[in-house]
Amino acid sequence: MHFRPKGAVQIGQTHRVTQGGRLTIMTAIYTASQDFSASAHVDAAGYDRLYAESVKDPESFWAREAQRIDWIRPFTKVKDTSFAPGNVSIKWFEDGTLNLSANCIDRHMIKRANQTAIIWEPDDPKTPAKHITYTELLEQTCRLANVLKAHGVERGDRVVLYMPMIPEAAYAMLACARIGAIHSVVFGGFSPDALANRINDSEAKVVITADFGPRGGKKTPLKANTDAALLHCDDRVKCLVVKHTGDQTSWVDGRDVDLKAEMAAAKPYCPYVEMGAEDPLFILYTSGSTGKPKGVLHTTGGYLVYAAMTHQITFDYHDGDVFWCTADVGWVTGHSYIVYGPLANGATTVMFEGVPTYPDAGRFWEVIAKHKVTQFYTAPTAIRSLMGLGAEWVEKHDLSSLKLLGSVGEPINPEAWNWYHTHVGKGAVPVVDTFWQTETGGHIITPLPGAIPQKPGSATKPFFGVKCVVLDAATGQVQEATETEGVLCITDSWPGQMRTLWGDHQRFEEAYFSQYKGMYFTGDGCRRDADGYYWITGRVDDVLNVSGHRMGTAEIESALVAHADVAEAAVVGFPHDIKGQGIYAYVTLMKGIEPSDDLRKDLIKWVRTEIGPIASPDLIQWAPGLPKTRSGKIMRRILRKIAENDFGALGDTSTLADPAVVDDLIANRMNRG
Ligand code: WT7
Repeated sequence: MHFRPKGAVQIGQTHRVTQGGRLTIMTAIYTASQDFSASAHVDAAGYDRLYAESVKDPESFWAREAQRIDWIRPFTKVKDTSFAPGNVSIKWFEDGTLNLSANCIDRHMIKRANQTAIIWEPDDPKTPAKHITYTELLEQTCRLANVLKAHGVERGDRVVLYMPMIPEAAYAMLACARIGAIHSVVFGGFSPDALANRINDSEAKVVITADFGPRGGKKTPLKANTDAALLHCDDRVKCLVVKHTGDQTSWVDGRDVDLKAEMAAAKPYCPYVEMGAEDPLFILYTSGSTGKPKGVLHTTGGYLVYAAMTHQITFDYHDGDVFWCTADVGWVTGHSYIVYGPLANGATTVMFEGVPTYPDAGRFWEVIAKHKVTQFYTAPTAIRSLMGLGAEWVEKHDLSSLKLLGSVGEPINPEAWNWYHTHVGKGAVPVVDTFWQTETGGHIITPLPGAIPQKPGSATKPFFGVKCVVLDAATGQVQEATETEGVLCITDSWPGQMRTLWGDHQRFEEAYFSQYKGMYFTGDGCRRDADGYYWITGRVDDVLNVSGHRMGTAEIESALVAHADVAEAAVVGFPHDIKGQGIYAYVTLMKGIEPSDDLRKDLIKWVRTEIGPIASPDLIQWAPGLPKTRSGKIMRRILRKIAENDFGALGDTSTLADPAVVDDLIANRMNRG
């Protein structure tokens, strides 16, 4: 495949791209139009100069960049960070004080009081959208903050949000920040068990939820799930409920609070609290390679500087633009690029309650046309599934407002990139493939659209201040050659970096700084090409990326073995056309239990209730035995190969305790595609 789109300039040679070890296609290199580059925040020379400064003299670079937000007391120290083994410590702008809610709202009141801050687009297109101005955002945030205070929430307390994509979710996040409470948003697709674990781990005082969360015409019973979760939590936890759909739910007097009613009765102004730059802002749980989700902790000053800066520069956001990130606020993408980054920049940000295919496969494009969206940011999995439904859904709508497209969450295969660029962007707008993680707070490898030519499938070059190295996975040697392959590490801190794991600094050090001493290990593999471009190849640890959602194989395994009929389970990923990776589970049943299709269905249902629908296994293979070394370690490499239907090259199996196990697994493999 080879595109020469109108309106965009193609430079250089086409080149060959291989992804997932299977697909090889020819792609071009694209650069933004001259008009775009001329007005872009950063141009090519600017990138080189600023990047060099940012890594040579981070103190002065970040001291200057930090002026993009308002400080109550200016900082005198910029950077105090160490990745030294046993002594990892990350502090930015340490003695400065600020309030994040004031930065996202109050400071815009002079210029933007009547500007729309949030456009809320409901699940059902027949329900009118809401345009919330900065004045309204201030009032609603203050009212919600006053309700939190009335229920005893103080600075440093934790508040869990388990909410649909409604404006109250943004008010709640900003209200916490306003009074210095720490929020922990739990994705509405997680099960009651997962919610309870997160409430308990963070010892939250309050949970904010809604009666139901409508998505794609279906209603998720968030309140009922919260009721079920709270059975496993401290009795003192309060439950603030947004009556959103108005459908009937159960009600526990003395514990449950009608949030909208109390907001209406609360005072419309709430003063903001002066917070230290390193005071915690939020916890966000994410999957790691061991069972228990990790409570990633972000703090206030550095996170905000980084979210605001990346939002402005990566998306080349200008006043008057309408920015739409389709993520859920339950993920870090929603934190940084629906709420904090855009609002810190005084932007208009779209918040979408629905799904790409409801009421039909043209919904994204309809919403872009309706609200004249200028920057659109979504995940490869959505692009691939819409691509499969045909470009005619795109062509029905006027997308001429678009200036830029973004991708996030997983590697984007060049085919999907090209489809996005050609059909959605009409070949005329830059596509930014942004690589980052919950842990990084904001983009760390990404094209800056007016500066860095784009190669489909590559996240291109590091953002300012991010020092990437590629290491040989086995030896840990830094690969000096430009063109190389290995695991991706970062050798110095940037302001948006996570600070610790909630309540477990030792696990933080072990999870991120112990594999390769003195460096932050991303968990991803990558290739660096001759132009110094990075191509992320996916996780090298036991973490899966399913439809852009991160899932630990260990979490799914422990859910499976908690089932009475399961003796042992091993979970691996396999290539999936839409989801990127699918979930493949090998299950050994208890003695005397017969495998059946009913049991298979039952196990899938079990995992959905234990963790949530995003963790549902796609394929379950009954495994009379698992390939183990003589010391009892499961050889996942072999299981991955069989799941990938690539069992010709299993590598060395001589250390297996019982090699016959492998023949059985191959003979009964589930993926023959
Ligand atoms: C993992 C982080 C950060 C936003 C959403 C996911 C993968 C993310 C890309 C990209 C290739 C990507 C990585 C990373 N990933 N963006 N542009 N290209 N891979 O956040 O849940 O913390 O997952 O997502 O594997 O480690 P997350």
